[in-house]
Order: sequence, then structure tokens, then C-alpha cells
Amino acid sequence: MRWDELEQETLAVRSGVHRSQFNEHSEALYLTSSFVFRNAAEAAARFSGEEPGMVYSRYTNPTVSAMQERLAALEGAECCIATASGMSAILGCVMALMKAGTHIVASRSIFGATVQLFGGLLPRFGIETTFVSASDPAAWEKALRPQTRLLFLETPSNPLTEISDLSALSDIAHRHGALLVVDNCFCSPALQRPLQLGADIVIHSATKYLDGQGRVLGGAVLGKRDLILDRMIGFLRAGGPTLSPFNAWVILKGLETLSLRMQAHSAGALELARWLEQHPAVERVYYPGLPSHPQHALAMRQQKSGGGIVSFDVKGGREEAWRVIDATQLISITANLGDTKTTITHPASTTHGRLSPEARQAAGIGEGLLRVAVGLDAVVDLKADLGRGLARL
Ligand SMILES: Cc1ncc(COP(=O)(O)O)c(C=O)c1O
Repeated sequence: MRWDELEQETLAVRSGVHRSQFNEHSEALYLTSSFVFRNAAEAAARFSGEEPGMVYSRYTNPTVSAMQERLAALEGAECCIATASGMSAILGCVMALMKAGTHIVASRSIFGATVQLFGGLLPRFGIETTFVSASDPAAWEKALRPQTRLLFLETPSNPLTEISDLSALSDIAHRHGALLVVDNCFCSPALQRPLQLGADIVIHSATKYLDGQGRVLGGAVLGKRDLILDRMIGFLRAGGPTLSPFNAWVILKGLETLSLRMQAHSAGALELARWLEQHPAVERVYYPGLPSHPQHALAMRQQKSGGGIVSFDVKGGREEAWRVIDATQLISITANLGDTKTTITHPASTTHGRLSPEARQAAGIGEGLLRVAVGLDAVVDLKADLGRGLARL
């Protein structure tokens, strides 16, 4: 049997398994901060790297390694490095690949904290970012400078589900000697594998669909070994934002049901998006699985299905949008996504609330916009819950 011939669903439950002497069936959780050496010479050899093996859980841990191996198998990546959160994955990637004087071109439609990191923090360390439209490859090309090292995007984007053309942008990046980094949070490898479409590095907030049940924070950076491994590990060891073994175990087990969950999230989101599109109190629906989405064809080429996130503008502004949120009795009012429980948020005052009104407007995030992350609730119940507030507009 060859591992590289197995289907993703099989890899999700079988890869990364290294049984201990007890031959446990479910993967063991190694909840330990350090590892014991037989003698002083062994300790010295492990610390110097002369001898392979565990030293300390900020360096390596068997449960974290198992999760890394499984996620790498699902993304089709040569290597995976786990981090404490999605944001520390993005920071780690920047710390590994950038230095003062270098430049990033990033999509304008990315997670609010990533905008803060790129636009607010990194300039203090001499790293500049130009923000461009997610869906206009010509704008990316125009923004490139001789110092550009990274092109960074999310597709579909948060919260407007804009789609970036991965192969066009990877061509642009490579022609200019830069790397294409994709935050694959919304799709997960069950729906989209950016490395196969030309990306160099994939980022995950494992906090979202990879865990899938809203339990733990985690993140990951995936790509070619020689591109990221040494530099990322150097950053993690010295900087410290490594993944806890407990969180790694939860995510490892979450990955086992990822494909099934993503199919269910997508089916539910499509049904809800179709219903919202017909609703008289709804101005516009943003969902890549709908034929009305401006990049529906591209989305369906890159993704297996539309994913679980549906955003929509209600007729009116903040007051009307908040009224829909406040009328819900079932859907959780929280900014997290990728959970079995459906969540709703008002991006302009939560996830993207720290952006200036001009930056929000440029990103197309209006005051009437709501984002629903469809969980595994029955869609009929979601319609009733949203319908209550929408009927009052
Ligand atoms: C697309 C995207 N990337 C990154 C992050 C950051 O992940 P974390 O909260 O795990 O740091 C989020 C969080 O919501 C996100 O939605």
C-alpha cells in the first residue's frame, strides 16, 4: 500500500499514527512539557541535535508532530509546522521569510487582525504592506516592488467571500521572485488545496474548521521543507508561540471528521444562501456557491463546494443588521466560525471594527452586512431564527 495513493478521507483518520508500546487505537495525548534523558550524554546529544528525539514541548512533542503529519497529508504539503493560533502562524511566516526593508502585497479583504499586523505593527520593524483588491490580478502586479517577498490572501475572503485566482497570482508572484501565501481558513483542505494550485505556503487558523467544534486555538504553516522549516522552527523556539499538545490532540481528532463536516456546512450554507437571496428584506447575498456570485465559476474550479460562510446585506444599515442579530434565539452571537454551532456576527462592529471607516469602506464591509457561519444545525431552524428579525425590517 502506498500512502500517497490513499484518499483524503482515509488520510484524515490514518495518517500521523505512531503507536506507543501500549498499542493504543486512538492516538495518545502526550501532555508533558519536557522529556527525560537516560544520562547526561544523551541530554547533550539531544540538545545539540546530534541525536533525534524529544527534548521540550516548545521544541517538539509527539502529539503535535502527529497533528502536523496529518494536516500535511491533507493539504498535500511536504511539511507542516503547528503554532499556538492562526495569528501566530501568520506572524511566524512573516518572521521566517521577511526582514526590514522587504515588502508584502496583501489582499484588502483579509481578517481584521491580519490587517492590523501588516498595516499597524510590521511597519515599526521596517516591513511595508500594500493592500489591493482580492479579485484583480492586475492590481497585484502593479503593486509589486523589487523588495516584494510575499503575496498574501484569503480565498474565499472574510467576510465578503471574494475569490482570488490562485494560479494567476502564483504566476505573478513567481515571475517576480516572490512567494504566494494563502490563508486557507474558510475552505480547509477538504474543499481547497492551494499548494496544488500554485501557492507556496498555506496558513491555517486551526481554531476554525480543523478543530471544528469551537474548543481550542491553534494554527499551522504548510509548504516545502526547505522554504520554511528551519526558519520557522528557529522563530518558534526563540519566540515561543508553539501549539499546546492538548490543543494539538483536539485538532488531530477534529481532522478525522473534517471532510464530512465541510460537506454538511456547504450544503447547509447553500440552502440558506438561496433562501436569503429570495428574502425581501435582504439586499445582497455573498456566497461563492450561488450562480449570482461574481466569481462563481472560478470558485467552483478552485473549491469542491461553496463552504460554510454566508454573508448578506440587509436593507438598511447598522440598526437593521443589529435588529436581526438581536432577534435570534438559537444562532450564537459570536465572531468565531467553523463550529458545529451556527454563529452570526456584524463584521463592521466586531471582526473588522478596528479598521478605519475608510479602510472598511474600501474593503466593501458595509454597516448592513451580517456574516453567518453555518454550523450543523438544521437549516429549517436557521431560517426560522433569521426570519424572525428579517420579518421586522
Ligand atoms: C481567515 C482567518 N485567518 C486567521 C484568523 C486568526 O486565527 P486565530 O484566531 O486562530 O489566531 C482568523 C480568525 O478568525 C480568520 O478568520
